[in-house]
Amino acid sequence: MFYITTAIDYTNGAPHIGHAYEKVLADVITRYRRLAGDDAYYLTGVDQHGQKVQQTAEKEGVHPATFAQRNTKKFLKLWEKLNVNYDGWAETMDERHKACVQKILQKLHDEGLLYKKAYKGFYSIRQEQFLTDKERGEDGEFGAEWGEVTEIEEENWYFKLSDQVEWMRGFVESHPDFVIPNFRHGEVLNAIERAADNDLCISRPKSRLRWGIELPFDQDYVTYVWFDALINYISFAGYLAEEGSDLPEFEKLWPADIHVLGKDILVPSHSIYWPAMLHAMGFTDDQMPTLLVHGWWNIRGEKMSKSIGNVVDPDALADQFGAETLRYYLVRDIITGKDSNFDADRLVMLYNTELANDLGNLCNRALNMSKRSLGGVMEQSDFDDEDCQTLRQSLSDATATYQEAMNRYDTAAALQALNNHVSFCNGFAERNKPWELAKDEAQSARLSAVLYHMVESCAHISVLLSPVTPEACVKIQNQLRLENLTEIKLGNLSWGMIPNGHQIGKPKPVFPRIQIDSE
Ligand code: MSP
Repeated sequence: MFYITTAIDYTNGAPHIGHAYEKVLADVITRYRRLAGDDAYYLTGVDQHGQKVQQTAEKEGVHPATFAQRNTKKFLKLWEKLNVNYDGWAETMDERHKACVQKILQKLHDEGLLYKKAYKGFYSIRQEQFLTDKERGEDGEFGAEWGEVTEIEEENWYFKLSDQVEWMRGFVESHPDFVIPNFRHGEVLNAIERAADNDLCISRPKSRLRWGIELPFDQDYVTYVWFDALINYISFAGYLAEEGSDLPEFEKLWPADIHVLGKDILVPSHSIYWPAMLHAMGFTDDQMPTLLVHGWWNIRGEKMSKSIGNVVDPDALADQFGAETLRYYLVRDIITGKDSNFDADRLVMLYNTELANDLGNLCNRALNMSKRSLGGVMEQSDFDDEDCQTLRQSLSDATATYQEAMNRYDTAAALQALNNHVSFCNGFAERNKPWELAKDEAQSARLSAVLYHMVESCAHISVLLSPVTPEACVKIQNQLRLENLTEIKLGNLSWGMIPNGHQIGKPKPVFPRIQIDSE
């Protein structure tokens, strides 16, 4: 089973384009794995505890639970709108999750891996963590990324992170694929060295923060939000679940094939705390997850932020341009792992060029001409020439490049490969001019072959593109009267999906052009 999870989003606000990207990316990967023949399970959800949620709820004068649930609905609504088709939904307020977190804490406590001590230090509310001098900038101050920083002294519970450092160093060094893309490997190794002399504070006194999961062995404390949140990847996969629980069977899902997360939460949480926690719980090297770390969507080179007021709302974009247009743009205009600039003009341009003009045009002309000149009956004619052979080669190259790119989660390269073939087909139509061939009875075998090559290409593209724009692809398949393609696996996709004598359906534009005011 291919088990894929994403980071869970804080519920202190509404979802933004960064959240949408991650969930769509994971959805596209899940759909692709199924197409490739795997069983797949996709878990995503929301992070409902912590100081940020408590603070924002207080400002609005509501209980944190009410506040978190209210925002959770916004995420649920958006994922439905964007066709993010998850199998499991994680909410950290869920009693099943809470029980799992408490069992883990109790076990670590019983094994002597947790201890209590007093600590005086600087605390960042935004990042919900104590800071050390290493976090100070060159000017000796804590940078703006930490938000409000205050000095506090309190007694807390600590997890012996330092006990795990030696194992972690060995694990990361010997597992270059632990983090994808691998240019982040060095970042993780450096972070391990920084973690070496600091244990992880895993509690917050209730006097300061009430909104969290209570420590089962000390009722004056709640669990640190990251300790709670990271556990969602296993709690909702059925780890330590009660007898008869409706959660999945843990052994079928774990280890996670990939956790999809942004570069900001790679260190220390996902690459240090999480493997250290798992190892302390008894997970072996083979049971560690792989981290797929994506980059950030920025706005004109700047970070998206509420204070700058440049936050992009995916809900409004989906209403304006269509959910599948947004899905396409989000996985097309960013190289997985790198940053990109969100630009609504590029969204329109890429859609109009690659979907409306290139693919839409190919499907329309292929189906329309087949209807008009062949009565919609597709023949596997005997005619063959170099151009037809080159088209078949182009499709087979595009499919191979697409698969190779998708297997390493590079959606942009995969979509470019498909677009290359679509462009080839449009050029093929221009060269062969089926509208001219139709006028000459002597060219009927060539006409059938040319249109067959074009329509067969549409069929293949509708399968390969389906993880990204599933609804549009089903529409193409319906027009082709090839409904069986919705269930096909990549291994069975080969030349000749359209049987000899197959009757296609009525063509109807699937990707209408987006008209913008300046046009
Ligand atoms: N709640 C934690 C994650 C806990 S996972 C056990 C958190 N939440 S978040 O809401 O701040 O971010 C959720 C995800 O969205 C993260 O993976 C983060 O990297 C991603 N993004 C947030 N802003 C982003 C962009 N501007 N662009 C792309 N992804 C970004 O961190």
